[in-house]
Amino acid sequence: MKKIILALLLTWCGVQISTQQYRQFSPSIYDSRLCYINQDLTAAFRSSTYQFILPLYKSVGARSNLNFVLSPNSVWIIVAAIAEGADPVTQQKLFQLLSVPKDPCVRQVYYQLATTRALPSNDVNIKNTRVWLFDDGTTINPTWHDLVVSNSLLEVVRAPIRHNPIATANEIKRIMSASLPRLNLSGNSVILDTMDYNGLWSTAFADAVIERAPFYNLQRETIGAVDIMRVQRRARMTYSEKLQAKIIELPVGADGRYRILFGTIIGNIDLASVVGKVTGDLVLEIIGSLQPSLVPIDVAIPRMVISSEIDMRVVLEDLAVKELWTDPAVTRYISNPPALPSSFVQRTTLVLNNTGLEYAYPEPQSAYSTRTGLDPILGREFIADRPFLFGLFDAETWACLMSAIYTKPTYTFVKK
Ligand SMILES: *[C@@H]1O[C@H](CO)[C@@H](O)[C@H](O)[C@H]1NC(C)=O
Ligand SMILES: *[C@@H]1O[C@H](CO)[C@@H](O)[C@H](O)[C@H]1NC(C)=O
Repeated sequence: MKKIILALLLTWCGVQISTQQYRQFSPSIYDSRLCYINQDLTAAFRSSTYQFILPLYKSVGARSNLNFVLSPNSVWIIVAAIAEGADPVTQQKLFQLLSVPKDPCVRQVYYQLATTRALPSNDVNIKNTRVWLFDDGTTINPTWHDLVVSNSLLEVVRAPIRHNPIATANEIKRIMSASLPRLNLSGNSVILDTMDYNGLWSTAFADAVIERAPFYNLQRETIGAVDIMRVQRRARMTYSEKLQAKIIELPVGADGRYRILFGTIIGNIDLASVVGKVTGDLVLEIIGSLQPSLVPIDVAIPRMVISSEIDMRVVLEDLAVKELWTDPAVTRYISNPPALPSSFVQRTTLVLNNTGLEYAYPEPQSAYSTRTGLDPILGREFIADRPFLFGLFDAETWACLMSAIYTKPTYTFVKK
């Protein structure tokens, strides 16, 4: 035992010495080996992320003309990585924005939960890449680096940002696996975030009946067309009075490890008001009120690829994160010269295809004559042929991995 304590003390001193130049950087330095938390923090983690996600969602909604896909969980992780190294004043502010507690050991548990949600499997192709790209000429604080890497918050990568724009552009394209986003490269670093999803439904949509069908606006005027996938299956559903929306849950993967919730508006309310009314508590209430239907429901959803590239710097500025991008003092404990990130861009791509693991077996005709057991307002169908909202959740923690609004049909009709 004595030996262990001695070893711990020695490594601790080693850490202190190696960070002499960052002597004032102390608020979040801790030795994770001394943490011991024997408590289920899933619910606390979830409510912490939801507090952060909803304002983010509203800002993106307003800036995107209500057609986007966003990866909120990933932004939460990256902002946490920034906070862990920020100057004490900014750090307090960011921890508050993230709703994380002061106790570094608790935060570590949150990080463990947050960073283990998007793990690819045979049936669900999901990938989240979080990179902080620093200029070659910066020296990174090893304590902060160890903390973000050991907690898998992000990868630290180098590029000649200051002196070789072409090599930097190529590196950015490689990391984003996309064409070069519009970036401000005036600082010493940029933050790059990508999230891709293409999963197999637990129950497949019928592949024989994908048809081109009209897509309407909320006033029921045709605004274009989509390839609609159909299936008849039992599912959990609920009605949200506040959002005047019908909600259905469709599981993804063999064990239903992920869930996609779709919502269509059936009341007389516009989409912007719906976005304005969503809160973290409301989302939790909706999740808690999902009820299985006793009989199959007719489900129809457009087959689609939706992709967004979001300027997260601007979105975070909406949430009052302003100094980070302009004041070198904020990131002076992260690197020397200060990291001073000038861009933070997120690309999210989500594919909804008809493929699934299990065939939807036809139910006997008699099943359709029975009651659904659900709120009658839900009827016995869920048809997403007009603007709808949806979100990809991890079934274990209900962390929100992707959140989207679909209002722009793939095909436009040429007027005669
Ligand atoms: C790039 O960022 C810097 C500071 O972060 C800012 O002063 C400058 O105006 C930005 N440039 C553009 C083109 O937005
Ligand atoms: C959708 O699934 C079909 C097979 O049903 C496949 O051929 C196609 O490439 C898939 N599309 C995407 C975007 O994954």
